[in-house]
Amino acid sequence: MRQSDAVSRLPLRPEIQAAAERLADTGVPSPRADAEQLAAHVLEVERSRLLLAPLLEPEQVERYRALVEQRARRIPLQHLTGTAPMGRIDLAVGPGVFVPRPETELLFAWALAHLESVHAPLVVDLCTGSGALALAIANARPDAAVHAVELDPAALTWARRNADARAAAGDTPITLYAGDVTAADTLAELNGRVDLLVANPPYVPAAAELDPEVAEHDPPQALFGGADGLDVIRAMLPSITRLLRAGAPAGVEHDDSHGAQVARLFTAAGYTATTEHRDLADRPRFVTATRG
Ligand SMILES: C[S@@+](CC[C@H](N)C(=O)[O-])C[C@H]1O[C@@H](n2cnc3c(N)ncnc32)[C@H](O)[C@@H]1O
Repeated sequence: MRQSDAVSRLPLRPEIQAAAERLADTGVPSPRADAEQLAAHVLEVERSRLLLAPLLEPEQVERYRALVEQRARRIPLQHLTGTAPMGRIDLAVGPGVFVPRPETELLFAWALAHLESVHAPLVVDLCTGSGALALAIANARPDAAVHAVELDPAALTWARRNADARAAAGDTPITLYAGDVTAADTLAELNGRVDLLVANPPYVPAAAELDPEVAEHDPPQALFGGADGLDVIRAMLPSITRLLRAGAPAGVEHDDSHGAQVARLFTAAGYTATTEHRDLADRPRFVTATRG
């Protein structure tokens, strides 16, 4: 390296430290992690490999600082990096689609564990958004036939883009439908045949207070489920029941205030083995139940 090169480059560590402090000042919940993630994005390396890239080019410093300022304005990290993970895949995300959340990985893991004993399963993902659950399941289980439903045209455009990218990468293609999961005829051709159904529907109670990243950037139709948050879950339960074959399970994510209520809805609809699942912070996160 020539001396002039070394002089024009800037050390990474103080840049990340300054970014973390700036993000902390503006109330970003995980400032250090976000500062590192944005640095990894600019340097096009894994976050765990940042130490191997100790110097930034001037152009990289400029881009990094601009991204940190956007994050300080509470634009979601995933909108800045353009991706969010689910299982072993990355989904393209941005304005117009719900950003897949780490807690949904628990529902994904439950689905995979259940499918271990099912050969060539027929799987349905209701309220697919970016396609996160459907595409992560198709990636993990190439023998599965995965069908996914989404109502919002903007979200569906992201799901199609992600589905095309995964198919191009060699995953088994999924089947995407534009439709309302509460309608009596949605996916009617699959009635009574589905081996496993997952759904992460809108479930936030209307009066909930949300972080700016969520309130200002996730689409409202992806978040809110009426006054108590349960409107979509209640209304899609008949669809879940008509789609599942007898003895097959559904897993539905819900608000952390809802565990017992969602379990009661399934039990009242004749389901068995109704189970409330908690996340790592011990908050009720999703319910699973078996169609009787
Ligand atoms: C919380 S987001 C979940 C997206 C995705 N499953 C995930 O985990 O990242 C809920 C999604 O359901 C869609 N949605 C809301 N109501 C719907 C309905 N009645 N029928 C189909 N999709 C609906 C929203 O547009 C949004 O994309």
